[in-house]
Amino acid sequence: MLLTAEKLTKKFGVHTAVDQLDLTIKDNECVALLGPNGAGKTTTLQMLAGLLTPTSGSIRFLGKKNIDRRFIGYLPQYPAFFPWMSAKEYLQFAGRLSGIPNKELQGKIEEMLSFAGLENARNKRVGGFSGGMKQRLGLAQAMIHEPKLLILDEPVSALDPSGRRDVLEMMNELKKKMAILFSTHVLHDAEQVCDEIVMLKDGKMKWSGNLVDLRKMQDGNHVVLETKEEIGHWLKTENYVTEYSFSSPREVELRLRNPGSRNRLLSDCMEKGLTITHFSEKGRTLEDAYLELMEQ
Ligand SMILES: Nc1ncnc2c1ncn2[C@@H]1O[C@H](COP(=O)(O)OP(=O)(O)OP(=O)(O)O)[C@@H](O)[C@H]1O
Ligand SMILES: [Mg+2]
Repeated sequence: MLLTAEKLTKKFGVHTAVDQLDLTIKDNECVALLGPNGAGKTTTLQMLAGLLTPTSGSIRFLGKKNIDRRFIGYLPQYPAFFPWMSAKEYLQFAGRLSGIPNKELQGKIEEMLSFAGLENARNKRVGGFSGGMKQRLGLAQAMIHEPKLLILDEPVSALDPSGRRDVLEMMNELKKKMAILFSTHVLHDAEQVCDEIVMLKDGKMKWSGNLVDLRKMQDGNHVVLETKEEIGHWLKTENYVTEYSFSSPREVELRLRNPGSRNRLLSDCMEKGLTITHFSEKGRTLEDAYLELMEQ
């Protein structure tokens, strides 16, 4: 295990921001910390990055109690840049801080500028960068020393769709080389890069597991039926149908009592001489499953 946190707790005065959180990260695993505003994501990430002391609980990283910051890369939610520095100077600064030997640093900086698509902006002042460029530079800064764990606090939340796509693509490349823990309040972003999800609300873990498990929680009793002929009104008397709504006389969305009800529905259609042109599982979206878990 790369990182294990047990009963991690952070209190600010009487307010408990993170409450007895258990979390593990394996080598090369990508974990999304998902939760609404104020859930405790930033507080959790800061503790795991060794920037904030937990009130109680323990963290083991690389088998040790002390977090060795040389092996962690961190991108804050609101990174502060020196606006007068150029991209190259900023990476030089970040590289020195992380202790990269001088003779390796120039090569590293070139590699990072190219990875972040900032070769042509190398000598431009960061103050004039767009949000997307800043975030790509921030990501380059966080990984210049090839950490074992990259911690990213809402790396895409402030970006427009194309900036979002660029950063998510960078993360997809990076996860081949290192473990990534990143926070977001958008399930869709988590889906793009991660397999493991930890849902946080009011400082507590609400659910954790992989996307496959989350998808399994989608409901299979919601179906759509379309027929060549008009369906008619017999559905209302069938006790295996709990809800239905017609979008046209030939198309209906139904909620069935259980998965076995599907066969009854289909055989009733055939009995009534209806020709089925479409039958599919509507299911809840992943977003619905997420919201439901969060509201529990
Ligand atoms: N330094 C602090 N002093 C007092 N309270 C704090 C401090 N930092 C965070 N909190 C409180 O702890 C809770 C969790 O905050 P945190 O910033 O970790 O949430 P978050 O999930 O990152 O939210 P967001 O999505 O808005 O970034 C909030 O109620 C916040 O007000
Ligand atoms: Mg935050």
